[in-house]
Amino acid sequence: MSLRSADTTARSRRSPWFVLGLAGLVLVLAGCASNAPLDTFAPEGPEARTIMDLVLPVFLVAAVVFVLVEGAIVVIMWKFRQRKNDDDPDGLPPQVHGNTRLEVGWTVLPAVILAPIAVLTVLTIFDLEERDADAVPVEVVGNQWWWQFNYDIDEDGEPDIVTATEMVVPAGRQIDLSITSNDVVHSFWIPRLNGKRDAVPGRTHTWSIEADEPGYYWGQCTEFCGLSHAEMRMRVVALPPDQYDEWVQSQMQPAPEPQTASEARGRDLFAQLCSSCHRNAGLPEDAQPSEDDHPLVAGVAPDLTHFASRRAYAGGIFELYNDDMTVNRGQLEAWLRNPPAEKAMAPGDNRGMPNLGLTEPQIDDLVDYLLSTSPDGPVWTGPRND
Ligand code: CUA
Repeated sequence: MSLRSADTTARSRRSPWFVLGLAGLVLVLAGCASNAPLDTFAPEGPEARTIMDLVLPVFLVAAVVFVLVEGAIVVIMWKFRQRKNDDDPDGLPPQVHGNTRLEVGWTVLPAVILAPIAVLTVLTIFDLEERDADAVPVEVVGNQWWWQFNYDIDEDGEPDIVTATEMVVPAGRQIDLSITSNDVVHSFWIPRLNGKRDAVPGRTHTWSIEADEPGYYWGQCTEFCGLSHAEMRMRVVALPPDQYDEWVQSQMQPAPEPQTASEARGRDLFAQLCSSCHRNAGLPEDAQPSEDDHPLVAGVAPDLTHFASRRAYAGGIFELYNDDMTVNRGQLEAWLRNPPAEKAMAPGDNRGMPNLGLTEPQIDDLVDYLLSTSPDGPVWTGPRND
């Protein structure tokens, strides 16, 4: 390649058309993801379908308006462009300012287009606030940076089941959510099941989800809530109704007693080191988080009573199980060895799990204990749907 042609190539690469074309190509290719667990255009429950039924007609109307307006702009630009041998190159085309008929027209027409859209939107909002009589109540609490789910099974005002990251629900039944936050504003979003709703400290927002079929539905915090915002994920596990009832019964019990010496050592370690932040219903009351120990974090670290019944941990960024349901032990050990490094925490950010300086034998015992909290493995063993 000669110097000259190399120079031309370099110049054409810099041209705005090249950059624009490349950006367009990247944008189009980004739409080709085969794994899109957060696809809002793939509703799998009544609420998500209700939204879809609004989005499609509105999108259609918007598309028609877009084509007409942009088309008119292109036609007018072409028709009234400056020509080479124009007698009066600085002259203006005939002006329409003050044309009453035109001005009334382009004021009334948008109102006529927007009125039905407004009616449909308001009806959809009311529709989404409807609750079934047999809806299952679940409290959702946002924390920096993980989601907590409280189930008050006996309806005495106190949660009987507390989980993190994975919300287990019965398929085909509406879930009546009360959403709040322990710290800053978060936003709860399971795209295939419903739209978003903010989690605001000191307030309770109601919302609902329902999954048509048993499945694994992905979600993500969608309100910037600090440097680990992108690592604040959650999943909904929809079970067949009888399996959901079994899950409720098993979660109401403490985890099984340790069966081996290392599991027992792990539980003692947990009671000494982990329980100042993590609740575990299997431990005695004096080994539960207390506000006196850690005024800022006590009680607001994930409940680990049935840790191994969940597929994901650490805000949903790590998988506890491989696709064949074997345990991804190495990742859990790495997490316990140095949590801030695994979660790519910002320098100086001391929220989240600290590095406890555990020794390798301690890590082994803790992992053995944590895995013993669900000897049968995770509650969801179907496809991850990611
Ligand atoms: Cu929580 Cu973003």
